Amino acid sequence: MKNIAIFASGTGSNATRIVEHFNNHPTINVALIISNKKTAKVLDMAKSNSIPTLLINRTSFYKTENLLTDLASHQIDFIALAGFLWLIPPYLVKHFPNKMVNIHPALLPKYGGKGMYGQYVHQAVRANNESISGITLHYVNEHYDEGNIIFQATCPVTTTDSVQDIAKNVLKLEHYYFPRILESLLAN
Ligand code: GAR
Repeated sequence: MKNIAIFASGTGSNATRIVEHFNNHPTINVALIISNKKTAKVLDMAKSNSIPTLLINRTSFYKTENLLTDLASHQIDFIALAGFLWLIPPYLVKHFPNKMVNIHPALLPKYGGKGMYGQYVHQAVRANNESISGITLHYVNEHYDEGNIIFQATCPVTTTDSVQDIAKNVLKLEHYYFPRILESLLAN
């Protein structure tokens, strides 16, 4: 069995899709959901699916390596960042080489970096009159949104699409592809 930990700070709609996808999977298990926000909806979802949760704080995350002990105790093999907005510290990158992926709601290398998340990404895509947007799955390194790209999928952006329309179309791609790409990465 390969055990995944999902890191998420918010609503957790991607985390929910991943949990649904691997429910009763023969070889892949969502073993832990980690959040930096006590009130994050993703923690409620984890609890209702009987998945262990861990709430982390900034000091411990950046100033200690205690998280490695927690991950080891849940025998975590792979990490999926699904709407997790903190920069990943070097000790964690080193411990999960090519075993930690992030999903980004745009076609990197465009619209990435610190502060480029969620609605801010879609607003920038709209403001620049892009004709396509999409999703990027990439390995995580020590810089925001800069690890090697694993997969991208695109959706058209029409001149009449609002920021919300773009967000909805991009999220649809994320929900479809994120669990499937994870599955293929974990099969290897
Ligand atoms: C997703 O669209 C994800 O791509 C984005 O946050 C959203 C989380 O939604 N991540 C980033 O912007 C990272 N830079 P969710 O909580 O409903 O899964």
